Amino acid sequence: MSDNKQTSRLYPSRIDIPAEARSQIVAILNQTLAATLDLKTQTKQAHWNVKGTDFYQLHELFDEIAGELEEYVDMVAERVTALGGYAFGTARLAASNSILPEYPLDILDGKDHVTALADRFASYAKHIREAIAKTDDLGDADTADLYTEISRTIDKRLWFLEAHLQVAEIKAENGSAAAKTPATVR
Ligand SMILES: [Fe+2]
Repeated sequence: MSDNKQTSRLYPSRIDIPAEARSQIVAILNQTLAATLDLKTQTKQAHWNVKGTDFYQLHELFDEIAGELEEYVDMVAERVTALGGYAFGTARLAASNSILPEYPLDILDGKDHVTALADRFASYAKHIREAIAKTDDLGDADTADLYTEISRTIDKRLWFLEAHLQVAEIKAENGSAAAKTPATVR
């Protein structure tokens, strides 16, 4: 976020986490809120526009993932407010504050949509994992626990996405030889 003071502003609260720590935690959570909203709409974009022989299963999978992200949007925003913070959750704020790149608008095939989402889920997973450590260091085990819950699901979803790509990636690494075992992956 460009304006850290703005995104970390606090209301008075009786909560026992010091204001200085809460202000830093709120800033991290607002970054996550922007990225999660962005990733949810990008996943919906894939849900609507994917084409190809795997259309139906990808259309369904992307919708399921978008639904999970929608739940996390709410959980993250409400953790901000539970800490006395102000949630920055409009579409415009998400677009301007997200750590993720814009979704490619010129792709159609299922594999290209899966690749675009896997790239973005990997960046998002890294952000979430870093936030677990940061919020834990700031003395907020509850926010770290929320991030841990999100992290576990995002890693699983990255697996679901990459499982569509790994056979081709292993084959590419081994030349024309058929993919045999995961041990061939570095
Ligand atoms: Fe739909």
